[in-house]
Amino acid sequence: MNLSFIQPPQVEWASGVLADGPLLRKSTRIQDLAGVFADEPARQQLAGERVVYDVEMLDTSPAEGELYTGVTHLYPGRVGREYFMTRGHFHARREQGEVYFGLRGNGLLLLQTEQGEARLENIFAGSIHIIPGFTAHRLINTGSDVLSALAVWPGVAGHDYMALASGFKLRLFEENQTIQVKEVQNG
Ligand code: F6R
Ligand code: ZN
Repeated sequence: MNLSFIQPPQVEWASGVLADGPLLRKSTRIQDLAGVFADEPARQQLAGERVVYDVEMLDTSPAEGELYTGVTHLYPGRVGREYFMTRGHFHARREQGEVYFGLRGNGLLLLQTEQGEARLENIFAGSIHIIPGFTAHRLINTGSDVLSALAVWPGVAGHDYMALASGFKLRLFEENQTIQVKEVQNG
């Protein structure tokens, strides 16, 4: 039999760069993140075009039972004293979970339940994060390198950005070269 071997897409573990697949890319910039950071005047003083994070994902089926695979590259930086972070979301289909794998850099994965209980997991090259259903998630880059994380999630999960539009319960700030966690009352 003369079977040819299919060449699958690849991820370069050290950098998180995806190759050999149909890819979708999205950049999220300072100008897209109005109201997300605590210090809105500080955000407005930064260049709107500056990219905060890039997401690159395989363009695969969104059908029930199928999985998406993507990499987020969250750049180092701060808005005021608050570290760069993703917008963060619940899945529109709340029961759908996700797995994140740390690839490079250092930061935190902020998780928050629908009851408002928040927790933080260290993320680093090799870390594995099981995000259960009904749990909002946000990446925070507390390091000086790019924070890259691979994610696998159900095609049907969708994103609900509105449920936490007023913010998560915890915010992460740099103070005197240390990481400070602050609890927000309305988060
Ligand atoms: C997908 C997922 C990640 C994020 C990405 C950007 O369910 O969790 O691929 O979408 O890290 O973050 P958001 O979507 O919050 O802007
Ligand atoms: Zn998600």
